[in-house]
Amino acid sequence: MKLILGIESSCDETGVALYHTERGLLAHALHSQIAMHNEYGGVVPELASRDHVRHVLPLIRQIATQADCPLSEVDAIAYTQGPGLSGALLVGASVACSLAYALGIPSLGIHHLEGHLLSPLLSTPAPEFPFVALLVSGGHTQLMRVNGVGRYTLLGETLDDAAGEAFDKSAKLLGLNYPGGAELAKLALSGTTGRFKFPRPMLHSGDLNFSFSGLKTAVLTMSKQHTLDDQTRADIACSAQEAIVDVLASKAMAALKQTGLKQLVVAGGVGANQQLRTQLDKSAKKSGSRVFYPDLEFCTDNGAMIAFAGALRLQQQEAASDYRFNVKPRWDLQQLNIA
Ligand code: KG4
Ligand code: ZN
Repeated sequence: MKLILGIESSCDETGVALYHTERGLLAHALHSQIAMHNEYGGVVPELASRDHVRHVLPLIRQIATQADCPLSEVDAIAYTQGPGLSGALLVGASVACSLAYALGIPSLGIHHLEGHLLSPLLSTPAPEFPFVALLVSGGHTQLMRVNGVGRYTLLGETLDDAAGEAFDKSAKLLGLNYPGGAELAKLALSGTTGRFKFPRPMLHSGDLNFSFSGLKTAVLTMSKQHTLDDQTRADIACSAQEAIVDVLASKAMAALKQTGLKQLVVAGGVGANQQLRTQLDKSAKKSGSRVFYPDLEFCTDNGAMIAFAGALRLQQQEAASDYRFNVKPRWDLQQLNIA
């Protein structure tokens, strides 16, 4: 029986959570920096770090009060060690390790994508190992075979832009705010299906890799060729979303077929996309498989997935107690694999 404090600070969200191995998630809180970065059209790393500094401790105090649980009851602190922005990661890592030192408890560095990958296990019904995971965040698009905690095999990944980036870049070209995925999806609701034909790169490549960089160019070309009235913008958003979703859904289904598995887990910010969920559910039903999603609030970055991944990791490994820390802005998920 353990109580884990989780801290996420890899990019533009400060997330904290308290997860109890028997009682589940006790409290969690999030501060989003989106409004702050908005005027720059993207995340400004230095501003992100400074904002994490401002919010992380107040948020921790807030959840401790919410859960009616003094920090002296915490057994270990899990923090995002990478991948992400180095300055932002250093804030979470240094706070986690100094707090752990002050409390005399261990700290544990967590891989951000492992947090996303395991987050559907926080929901009910939860998938069972093994499953295929489609990881679709702002920086990553990967298909993984997940045999258990720390047992991951890469099946395919993007050769250039991530799906989230394709959403964000297309949204920017349509004059939407950063990050544009959710706004583009909203605009697409009033769009006409199929008015524009966007490429579906690598759809028939025969492997499980992706490529999304061409889409941005196609959206740019289309935007220049037409007067961007409200309806045309919505139609472009709708067709761009369709192209991204078609490729993601088709490759995810191919991954199930290739592995012979029947469970697909979708994790990361783009997993919040309703069109993607509808299409995946439809295809899964046809093939007799099932798709699992994290609750919407745990699709995008959050502290709960880090506390939860920390709890699962602690069942397998000793947490470090020397309080030295480093961060890993680039970190291959497969390096985590348990031998
Ligand atoms: O996982 P996440 O919160 O952060 C990273 O680890 O990168 O993912 C952020 C990405 C952004 O590209 C954002 O535009 C996208 O997720 N996103 C969406 C939606 N909500 C967030 N993309 C499409 N539809 C959405 N509803
Ligand atoms: Zn993320």
